[in-house]
Amino acid sequence: MRGIYLTGTDTEVGKTIVTRAIVRAAVRRGIDVVALKPVESGAPEVDGELVPEDAVALIEAARSQEGIGDICRYRFPDPVSPHLAAERVGRAIEPGPILELLAGHARRHELVIAEGAGGLLVPLSDTLLYGDLIAESGFALVIVAPNVLGTINATLQTVEAARRRNIEVLGVVLNQTPPTELGNADAIATHGAVPILGELPTADIGDTDALADAAERTLNLDPLLG
Ligand SMILES: Nc1ncnc2c1ncn2[C@@H]1O[C@H](COP(=O)(O)OP(=O)(O)O)[C@@H](O)[C@H]1O
Ligand SMILES: [Mg+2]
Repeated sequence: MRGIYLTGTDTEVGKTIVTRAIVRAAVRRGIDVVALKPVESGAPEVDGELVPEDAVALIEAARSQEGIGDICRYRFPDPVSPHLAAERVGRAIEPGPILELLAGHARRHELVIAEGAGGLLVPLSDTLLYGDLIAESGFALVIVAPNVLGTINATLQTVEAARRRNIEVLGVVLNQTPPTELGNADAIATHGAVPILGELPTADIGDTDALADAAERTLNLDPLLG
């Protein structure tokens, strides 16, 4: 099974924004791409239904016809770690259904891109971390990191956590590059021996095509879409 998982150094670092940008760029290259958010917590209830907002945004980015349940297998209302969000509604996240979801899409589509939740060491249950699931999926990893002070440390820790699970790291996207140079890209490339795919600027997040334009301008997408 082949696909790409996007993880972050943390939550709220731009995983969804970067995923939308890459997915729309793939659509524009004529690739049959599907974008998944297999586990989403913090999904607000609207008219009696939980709405996983990342999953909805990814469906839009991929111009997908899939139903929400085929994009997001586990959705929970509370905005806490998935293991706890599941526990609070009396459920448990199992790896099997997520791996089946990924495999099913991999059979039907040219490219599967999935967004994780938080980072690699986020628990899905008392016995499973998100990184363990990604390792089992065989998907390759893209790490999204905010281009701020502290990101060298957080990114290199994420690279180490991936490597000790034998997850292939395709590269790092530095997100929301500030005007001041922090040396993040050079230090991460040197010490992590990992490609820097580029630095995505602050963009109009309401416009997926504007995000894709920014990605095409600033990121090397060939290792992902080439
Ligand atoms: N490149 C960007 N340009 C503009 N705003 C951004 C960008 N990246 C992230 N943001 C802001 O940060 C918020 C969190 O990003 P998001 O992609 O939802 O993070 P994550 O998926 O990692 O939790 C977004 O809602 C947006 O306000
Ligand atoms: Mg997200």
